[in-house]
Formats: sequence, C-alpha cells, structure tokens
Amino acid sequence: MYLMNALRGFVMPYLALINLVSSPTMDQQDGVAYYSPTDRGGSMLINAGDGYGEPMNVIISGLSSPHILTLDGAINFARAIGFSEECFGLHLGGYMPANLGDGNGWVNQTIELRQDYGNAGIGTCLESLVGGNHFRIFVQNGTTADSGALFLAVSREEPLTEDHDVVPDGYNIGRNQLVSAAVGKTWYNEVKYHTVAQNITGLLKAGADGVNHDIAQDGIVTLLTVTIY
Ligand SMILES: *[C@@H]1O[C@H](CO)[C@@H](O)[C@H](O)[C@H]1NC(C)=O
Ligand SMILES: *[C@@H]1O[C@H](CO)[C@@H](O)[C@H](O)[C@H]1NC(C)=O
Ligand SMILES: *[C@@H]1O[C@H](CO)[C@@H](O)[C@H](O)[C@H]1NC(C)=O
Repeated sequence: MYLMNALRGFVMPYLALINLVSSPTMDQQDGVAYYSPTDRGGSMLINAGDGYGEPMNVIISGLSSPHILTLDGAINFARAIGFSEECFGLHLGGYMPANLGDGNGWVNQTIELRQDYGNAGIGTCLESLVGGNHFRIFVQNGTTADSGALFLAVSREEPLTEDHDVVPDGYNIGRNQLVSAAVGKTWYNEVKYHTVAQNITGLLKAGADGVNHDIAQDGIVTLLTVTIY
C-alpha cells in the first residue's frame, strides 16, 4: 500500500512534465521581466485558505534564458540551488492557488519543491521530516500578461511533526536563503547558470495583514534574472 502510493506519487510529476514539454502551445513571451499582479486584479498573496495568504516573494524574470521558464528548466535550476521535487512527488503541503493577474484567474501551483538534503528524491523526504525551505511555482503566462515569469512563494517550514507551519520570520528567511543559494554561478546536470538579484519594493505589502500563520514579512520581492551560459 505504502509502496503503491509512493510509486504513484513518483510517476505523476514526470507525466505532468512530459505533458508540458511536448505542449505545442509554448508561446512567445512579451519581453518584460514581469507584470504586477495587483495592477491587474490579481494578488501577490497565494490562497492558503480561510482568507489567509502566503507571499510570492521571489520572481524569476521573464527576461531569463527561455529554458529556465519551462517546468523541466525550472526543476533543473532548482536542483542547482539545492532543491528538488517533493518527497516522491507527494504533496504533503497541499495545493494553494494564485492569481497572477494574467487572465488565467486562480491557478494551483505548477509544482512544489523542497530543499534537498542529499541525493534527489530521498533528500526531500528528509526535508519533510525535519523541516526546511520550500517553494511553490506559478507561471505568469495568461494571454493578458504573458511575461513568462515564474512567481515563487518561498518559506521555511517546521518539521512535519509540527504540521508544516512556517518558522518565525520564515518568509523572509526562506527568500533570503533561496536567493543566497541562487546568486552568482551555479550548475546542475551540465547546465551552467549565472544569476543576478534585484530587490523590488511596492509590489508586495509589508506586514502580517492577511498573511498565513500571522508571520510578518518585509514586503521585499527579489527578482532573479537567470542566464544559462
Ligand atoms: C487545486 O487542486 C485541488 C486538488 O486537485 C482541487 O481540488 C482544486 O479545485 C484546485 N484549485 C484550482 C483553483 O484549480
Ligand atoms: C502556462 O503554464 C502552465 C504551467 O506550466 C501550463 O500548464 C499552461 O499550459 C501554460 N499556459 C499557456 C497558455 O502556455
Ligand atoms: C534584498 O533585501 C534583503 C532583505 O533586506 C537583503 O538581505 C538582501 O541583501 C537584498 N538583496 C539585494 C540584491 O539588494
């Protein structure tokens, strides 16, 4: 029973990935870094239920190398900076939708990635048990704001025993940890990345208002431009 579930969870994300990669609708993006979701009826908070949200505090720019902005490209980059798919693909954290103001409305995360403490797969299981950094990815690719940018809701969690709560200051800590790991030169699977960070204010409201777990965050969104070289 356990094995069946584990296997099913493991295979599903790859099916989703194949689906995306072979999609004939991979369209031309708009040539901008991102569009502000809040200017277009969306929100910088993803819906965590009960009227609370979690901040999207990192954006991977639409001006990054195109491969980064695909699902398999994003996964490879995530591996380069110490993350991988969830423990056997199991969504221990559940789905949370976001509205990026691109005309797609509220859409569930494309994938959730967790900090990898060792080899891919088993390492992320360890994260689920001991806690650590994780993020959900949302793609701004609707027809009314097609930047192609990836919006990331990053937070640092308590161990599973504590119900996957976010640690105190976990949104800022999670963002800063991910950004530190990403900036400069990284590589995975023979793909080399050069990443530049820039902080954006005024996009996300600072504070704990409407924020899940009542944890305040500083309102900074870090824009990462990732170039494959
Ligand atoms: C997100 O996924 C869950 C589980 O499959 C589903 O019940 C829910 O309707 C989805 N939400 C959106 C906005 O698509
Ligand atoms: C937008 O991205 C999502 C997630 O990768 C994908 O499922 C969807 O097909 C894309 N939509 C368009 C219009 O490309
Ligand atoms: C962005 O802001 C965070 C939090 O204040 C800070 O630690 C980081 O150095 C800043 N990064 C850049 C590129 O300015």
